[in-house]
Amino acid sequence: MTTSFESFDRMWADLEPIGRDPGTGGYRRFAWTRTDHDLREWFAGECAARGLDVVEDRAGNQWGWWGDPDTTPGVVVGSHLDSVPDGGAFDGPLGVVSALATVDALRARGIEPDVPLGVVNFVDEEGARFGIACAGSRIITGALDADRARGLTDADGVSMAEAWRSAGRDPATLGRDDEALRRVAAFVELHVEQGKALAVATDGGDDLTDPARAVAIGTDIWPHGRWRIDLPGEANHAGTTRMADRRDAMLGLATVVQAARSYAVALGCVATVGKVHVVPGGVNAIPSHVRAWLDARGEREEAVRAAVDAVSEEAARFGATTAEESWTPTTTFDTGLVERLHGILPDAPLLGTGAGHDAGVLATHGVPSAMLFVRNPTGVSHSPSESAGVADCHHGVMALTAVVTALSTGKAAEPAGEHR
Ligand code: GLV
Ligand code: MN
Ligand code: MN
Repeated sequence: MTTSFESFDRMWADLEPIGRDPGTGGYRRFAWTRTDHDLREWFAGECAARGLDVVEDRAGNQWGWWGDPDTTPGVVVGSHLDSVPDGGAFDGPLGVVSALATVDALRARGIEPDVPLGVVNFVDEEGARFGIACAGSRIITGALDADRARGLTDADGVSMAEAWRSAGRDPATLGRDDEALRRVAAFVELHVEQGKALAVATDGGDDLTDPARAVAIGTDIWPHGRWRIDLPGEANHAGTTRMADRRDAMLGLATVVQAARSYAVALGCVATVGKVHVVPGGVNAIPSHVRAWLDARGEREEAVRAAVDAVSEEAARFGATTAEESWTPTTTFDTGLVERLHGILPDAPLLGTGAGHDAGVLATHGVPSAMLFVRNPTGVSHSPSESAGVADCHHGVMALTAVVTALSTGKAAEPAGEHR
């Protein structure tokens, strides 16, 4: 019989080539593209192979159910399959593959859940194409209004509604989905750690072998948001326009980037300008317009807000406008569920994070949610260098199996060693 570790390894190998850029080695898995279609087909196929009923909600999130969640709400595990531009292999897929392997682990042990068990693939978690992170969970919870979602555009001006139509879907059906949420009694999202907390031993050195530090339990997510800054200028010739006569939108951008860094440092938060669009975008033309996106996060909401306000004031000196595209307040995962997880995995450290997740969106909309993080030896994420060791990934499957066993049957999982 195939073990859950073998099935994890096989699924991991299946996903490896999908959406990988041969040049950078990074992944470009964007919502409602051909690559996304292939990933969704893969997910539906894996669910079908396990006899799970696949249903889609009104945002296109895919749920594979073992049991009927319309009779009794179920325990759900999973994550997302999309990526940032040139992202790593683990952010998202690790949680989906581990969830499917967990189903295999339960079956191998002859465990039948007393409540339905769901495996979810959330769509468009990174917001790489349309700008809003966690779009799939925000749409079904109503945090992202359906009309606004339909009207979001990608870099080529294609709206989400048009992307839906091209993917053979009816954008009129897109929207809040209370029924999909009612089916979820608890959601546990396993994710690669996006920092080095687990890889650093208590004495400060690296420790990549301590099994007690392979998996952590997520406690909370920092408040975070995205802002769009539009800087005006005037197009003109790069060779013939005197420096004194220029209105160069790029100068405003330079100030914004510097201000983001210095206010973030001064106020104890983090801020990033990671995406810019320059018009007209010619080497020999003075920029007439720059659109830049600011991502700001931190432990304290007031600090993040103060940093963004200060950056926006600096930008305003150049005639720029700043618009909030998304804001997620501090998210504290369900304390009862976190305690439960801690009882199931008593050695696992407790960890907060500065990264956003669908589990956070669900948590703020009344769905008891929590997370597990798998050790990342480099701490790097949103980059092709993102990683997690095979043994740690298998530890993640064991941890998730223990959690799902306890939450769906009330029984303790068998010791890890008997997992195979
Ligand atoms: C998602 O990964 C985010 O934190 O932006
Ligand atoms: Mn991410
Ligand atoms: Mn993620």
